[in-house]
Amino acid sequence: MKRLPLLSLLTVMGLFGSTQAFCASQPQQAKEVTALNTFKAGDGTFLLNGEPFVVKAAELHYPRIPREYWDHRIKMCKALGMNTVCLYVFWNAHESEPDKFDFTGQNDLAEFIRLCQANDMYVILRPGPYVCAEWEMGGLPWWLLKKKDIRLREQDPYFMERVDKFQKAVADQVSDLTIDKGGPLIMVQVENEYGSYGTDKAYVSEIRDLLRKNFGDEVTLFQCDWSSNFLNNGLDDLIWTMNFGTGANIDQQFAKLKEVRPDSPLMCSEFWSGWFDKWGGNHETRPAADMVEGIDEMLSKGISFSLYMTHGGTNWGHWAGANSPGFSPDVTSYDYDAPISESGVATPKYHALRNTLAKYSDKKLPAVPKAIPTIAIKPFDFTEVAPLFANLPESKRETDIKTMEEFNQGFGSILYRTQLPELTSPSLLTISDPHDFVQVFIDGKYIGKLDRRMGETALQIPAVKKGAQLDLLVEAMGRINFGRAIKDFKGITDKVTVTEVRDGHSFVCDLKNWEVFNLEDTEEFYDSMEYFPIGSFTPGDDGRLPIGVYRATFNVSKPGDTFLNFESWGKGLVYVNGHPMGRIWEIGPQQTLYMPGCWLKKGENEIMVFDIVGPRKASSEGLKTPILDQLQTPRRLVHREDGENLSLAGLTPAASGSFKRVNGWQETTFNSPVKGRFVCLEMLSAAGNDNDAAIAEMYLVDDKGNRLSREPWTVRYADSEEVKDGNYSADKIFDLQESTYWKPVKGTPYPHAVVIDLGAEHTLTGLQYLPRMEKDVPGAIGEYKVYVSSDDFKY
Ligand code: GLA
Repeated sequence: MKRLPLLSLLTVMGLFGSTQAFCASQPQQAKEVTALNTFKAGDGTFLLNGEPFVVKAAELHYPRIPREYWDHRIKMCKALGMNTVCLYVFWNAHESEPDKFDFTGQNDLAEFIRLCQANDMYVILRPGPYVCAEWEMGGLPWWLLKKKDIRLREQDPYFMERVDKFQKAVADQVSDLTIDKGGPLIMVQVENEYGSYGTDKAYVSEIRDLLRKNFGDEVTLFQCDWSSNFLNNGLDDLIWTMNFGTGANIDQQFAKLKEVRPDSPLMCSEFWSGWFDKWGGNHETRPAADMVEGIDEMLSKGISFSLYMTHGGTNWGHWAGANSPGFSPDVTSYDYDAPISESGVATPKYHALRNTLAKYSDKKLPAVPKAIPTIAIKPFDFTEVAPLFANLPESKRETDIKTMEEFNQGFGSILYRTQLPELTSPSLLTISDPHDFVQVFIDGKYIGKLDRRMGETALQIPAVKKGAQLDLLVEAMGRINFGRAIKDFKGITDKVTVTEVRDGHSFVCDLKNWEVFNLEDTEEFYDSMEYFPIGSFTPGDDGRLPIGVYRATFNVSKPGDTFLNFESWGKGLVYVNGHPMGRIWEIGPQQTLYMPGCWLKKGENEIMVFDIVGPRKASSEGLKTPILDQLQTPRRLVHREDGENLSLAGLTPAASGSFKRVNGWQETTFNSPVKGRFVCLEMLSAAGNDNDAAIAEMYLVDDKGNRLSREPWTVRYADSEEVKDGNYSADKIFDLQESTYWKPVKGTPYPHAVVIDLGAEHTLTGLQYLPRMEKDVPGAIGEYKVYVSSDDFKY
């Protein structure tokens, strides 16, 4: 029987000296984990050293947790009743430039895994290359986009060459930590939910082969996908596991797998404990009872699981990703409404789950580690500011506009400057496409903004003399991490035009000759600026201080965790003592940033905020609890304009009938192929006794029998949307997430209707509908009608 040398244990203990003040206890000696050395799929169960074994995994992401707290968080998982840690490897965190690998500090993957082992936890490794995870570009490095025609997550030679190097670098760190070699690694995942991206067994096989090459034949490999699509890319020699959220009908989730592989061990590789927040959307929560019930049911049936997330942590710096279709950037906190809060606190959900997990543990669970102390920091004012426009770096000249990536810039903002032609009347400035938040200035005066989240691409500018200076300050937010849109270039991706209407004729001018300033998000750049006392600036008409970098120091007598309050700030990025703390944005719902005590110093601490719209008040304070649920300037979350009432009178439906009250996809075929751009699904009744009509996902089928791409879809109208008590707006029906859904406000009368603008005319032959995933199929639609029209409907 092999054992890891007293390991890194000593290293672990030495390295974590600084954590002592915060952590309840130090890593214990590895016991069982090192004594076991095979992990395989058996008949209907996993086998650990030949014995049936149920994986109870806690999903944790080491880059999202301060290294000083890794041990604390792992112990919290152990005390919760988990036996395994499941983790992603974020490629872009480890390889910021091609061939420049970093596995140190926050990135020390091997050390994190050894720490799991020291805490008697097994480990499941998910090295991507793509991971999703609401992380910038799903973990792929932005610099891949410098090859403009790259095919991501496909057998593109350059993509595969880079994946090969990255996978090898990961294996160099951890391939000696597999269970057969005395380490804690029991399984390694091949790619991630490939079914929600495409069908390409050849590509998935190549990723599998790389893992086999790097980890050897002994390691157990698996794939994770949804029950609705796992067969599309399922490889015969891999274990198949399912991902689904709390509340889902568990038997139904495994029904297909049991049918095609009756002897397979069952595992929910991502059981979603909560959900992630997006800027401008309501804070997400999921009931503890549903989570606990689901875990109880799985354990009672011997089903393995990984609870995603058990502790979410934080998207430090610019690492938060964005979702699509549309563009929904994620907030900095990855609290996820998980059992262990963003700052490591045991929530009521934690205790409820612990009681259940205790039932399935043959040993008494370890005591819950003490919480890390929290502190308040008295309000403090910022003292200096470096206004951005007085601190521009050297510029470059380009005839045509280019993306950020073409300037070898990955993150931050970019300023494009040119001269306008004479405009004799107010004209339309159109940007295709603005990624992601553009502020328009003419001769230094703010004119307006274009926010990609809202699909804004044009705005009116005033008449100007020839040569007026146009400035476009473009801020990049996180790159999309889900779906085909992950190829997400930043800056301005195509062109900028001005359209003037003169004597009834439109004159379009394609703007050229740009002066470009790259405002890379680095502390060095912000440090290099010239700072002035803040007192020399007064707020403008909009009540804001200038766009720029603000600095201050604040005093801490005894470091502890705190939540820095940014309610009076605009939009930007924060650094404290050199640590990138993340994004802030006044629109909310997140208003505070988690500030771990281990990154604070006794005495003076330095803070720097780059505010790209300007604060209303440049001050902050440390709070003892976070504010994660405060939408400050609520965005219009519903899709029905005041006074609109859809009228379908006199129209002939393309299809009508009744859906069944069952889990899983259903399809209705149209009476005959029909052309149109606007599609209305009218729900006339509910199939069950509840009146809570809902749609989780919907597709339209074209005349070749294929699903239409939903990328260009927008919701034109929905008669009612529940957006006060949760996020159930109608765009959820094409957000690629089976666990989120559209639901009208409870009690509003039938019929309910949603109208989708497909963006272009198509010939349609059918509609596919997925009801909610829970056992009793709440909100199942009964009778329905589908209408298709080339022109918009009447309201
Ligand atoms: C999927 C992905 C995860 C994460 C969750 C949602 O299951 O595999 O990486 O994005 O969705 O949080």
